[in-house]
Amino acid sequence: MPLARSLSITSLSGLEEWDEEFDLEDAVLFEIAWEVANKVGGIYTVIQTKARLTAEEWGENYFLVGPYVESNVRTQVELIEPTNPALKRAIDKMNSSGCKVYFGRWLIEGSPYVVLIDVAFTAWNLDKWKKELWDNFSIGVPWFDREANDAVLFGFLTAWLLGEYAAQCEEPPHILAHFHEWLAGLGLALCRQRQLPVATIFTTHATLLGRYLCAGSVDFYNNLADFNVDKEAGDRQIYHRYCLERTAARCAHVFTTVSQITAVEAEHLLKRKPDIITPNGLNVKKFSAMHEFQNLHAQSKNRIQEFIRGHFYGHLDFNLDKCLFLFIAGRYEFSNKGADIFLEALARLNYLLRVNHSDVTVVAFFIMPARTNNFNVETLKGQAVRKQLWDTAQTVKERFGKKLYESLLVGQLPDVSKMLSKDDFTMMKRAIFATQRQCQPPICTHNMLEDSNDPILTCIRRIGLFNSSADRVKVIFHPEFLSSTSPLLPMDYEEFVRGCHLGVFPSYYEPWGYTPAECTVMGIPSISTNLSGFGCFMEEHIADPSAYGIYILDRRYRGVDESCNQLTSYLFQFCQQSRRARIIQRNRTERLSDLLDWRYLGRYYISARHMALAKAFPDTYFYQPHDSDTAQGFRYPRPASVPPSPSLSRHSSPRQSEAEEDDDRYDEDAEAEKDRLNIRQPLTLPSKKGPMSSLQCVIHPAAG
Ligand code: UDP
Ligand code: G6P
Ligand code: GLC
Repeated sequence: MPLARSLSITSLSGLEEWDEEFDLEDAVLFEIAWEVANKVGGIYTVIQTKARLTAEEWGENYFLVGPYVESNVRTQVELIEPTNPALKRAIDKMNSSGCKVYFGRWLIEGSPYVVLIDVAFTAWNLDKWKKELWDNFSIGVPWFDREANDAVLFGFLTAWLLGEYAAQCEEPPHILAHFHEWLAGLGLALCRQRQLPVATIFTTHATLLGRYLCAGSVDFYNNLADFNVDKEAGDRQIYHRYCLERTAARCAHVFTTVSQITAVEAEHLLKRKPDIITPNGLNVKKFSAMHEFQNLHAQSKNRIQEFIRGHFYGHLDFNLDKCLFLFIAGRYEFSNKGADIFLEALARLNYLLRVNHSDVTVVAFFIMPARTNNFNVETLKGQAVRKQLWDTAQTVKERFGKKLYESLLVGQLPDVSKMLSKDDFTMMKRAIFATQRQCQPPICTHNMLEDSNDPILTCIRRIGLFNSSADRVKVIFHPEFLSSTSPLLPMDYEEFVRGCHLGVFPSYYEPWGYTPAECTVMGIPSISTNLSGFGCFMEEHIADPSAYGIYILDRRYRGVDESCNQLTSYLFQFCQQSRRARIIQRNRTERLSDLLDWRYLGRYYISARHMALAKAFPDTYFYQPHDSDTAQGFRYPRPASVPPSPSLSRHSSPRQSEAEEDDDRYDEDAEAEKDRLNIRQPLTLPSKKGPMSSLQCVIHPAAG
């Protein structure tokens, strides 16, 4: 039965409304990515958070397609019989021809249908398919590149699925297939080569060559237009991957990417200008109580503090109440993610805090997965010692309480000198002895497989941040993504972020950057850069981002050392904020959530889909470009009340006494209301810029 669907995206706290009247007829949407129900990095976040909105629009006609990974399926997917008859016939046919294709519901918000393909099960086809790839596209994939082999299998299998589905439909179908990233791109090229009735979209979340070039010591942004792309890809032994990516970009009816900065990069490196930019959104949760997220911050911070008590046992000579938690997280690309300048800035911050006799201690977490051999003994011991101290205190407290109770029962005040027995003292002394430690608290929580070559550890050895008592900046490197089942730090990533004070993401190469966006919707301030998609997007939409706790480091017009100084000064000024200023700032940060909500940003995906349908099936669909397709909109004005920005020169009211500033019992609601009223004022539209203009300028090289 044809479904007439259209979507209206409503206004979110002053953001413009968007109405799209577009009859989808009987179209069916397949969204294909290696990260469907398979967490690797940010692309998983795109797919997983967008599912609800897409499922709302497409209902029963929306299918995600990804690889079958047993461990993921066990925890995230409910396997069921295919609901769509033509799809059921297609899957049955593939399964009877030697494939293993599963159908289920992904247990996330929106509960979308998933088709999961076991690529290893059809590996016997690899040579045949590689030959076909060579014959039809002249792309040769070497045997040793496992990821590229997977891309070949996944590509042929997805094209097979779409072709089989089309063949099983009773009426000529209108299929729309949205492919993400090079790993899924071959399926798209095959759909075009086989002339399947499929409208195709390719979204690149980074270019392969861009990522590789930036990770080296190349002056990337100044030379974008001049790279000999084939040679550069060949030199890095990724020519075949590059060809797969470029083919997908070139063949797609609609080509999109996640930010303006990556659009320029794609135009030069993949030789096609994206048709539309599809910025990444999030599924924003709204709490009924306005300050619920502040309470969550306090709760999660307590749990991080517990971890710190264990990690620093025997060296807890700093005030935890004056301790700020900073963190960086994401895929382990040392210089692309800016871990290099973060460490350097931390060393400088350490010096500044020491010479200024600051009572603030900073703990900087690095959450970046590397190859390890489990947790190390010293780290686990720390948590065990903390637990032992806690248990000892509980036992003594109970005995103490019992004696006190007995004494009160007989109407006497207790004799305080007899409240603790000799045994109690022995037990307490033994517990204190256990906290003696010969070494400094560890930097790394795990046994690293490549300890001596690891870039973070090597840099720490050079700058000498060893968690000594004199250091005001402590470092903890957790080379694994966080998990609530960890014996060490049992928190999931979201809880951890909520408990921190500042996310630091000084990336040099970052097409979007979900980590600072996630901080924003949780009301945690962050530092990003004007070389990241997120940083540029926020700069474009907010008049004074730093007043909202969105610090955007200049890595575009400054050299590395200068950027590092700027980062140091952001960090130092952040350390000088009072508790009250931090609370106000978190309120403001959180207020930007609507801007990052898929309910607002989903419109660009919708436009891309309509554009593709109209290109592939011009007799059925007509696409009228929408004003907001250019990803430009309004600007958030400056907040009305006192800026809690770290910039000390900007205090617009007389400074309060320290005690007053540290008092968190001020009227948060009144303050928040003042700011909100200001945001409701008419929004000013920015002038329209040509898509290329912002990058055609001199940019300082990555390497010093
Ligand atoms: N992340 C996570 N667990 C962690 C640390 C990070 O799930 O312990 C996720 C984080 O939520 C984010 C993603 O990793 O969505 C990183 O995405 P981003 O776009 O920032 O960078 P990428 O790693 O894809 O380059
Ligand atoms: C939240 C809580 C407050 C707490 C504060 C700590 O706002 O609602 O009760 O005092 O967090 O803030 P801080 O920045 O010092 O972690
Ligand atoms: C890639 C990019 C990252 C982006 C993510 C989702 O992993 O490196 O910047 O946020 O894709 O688009």
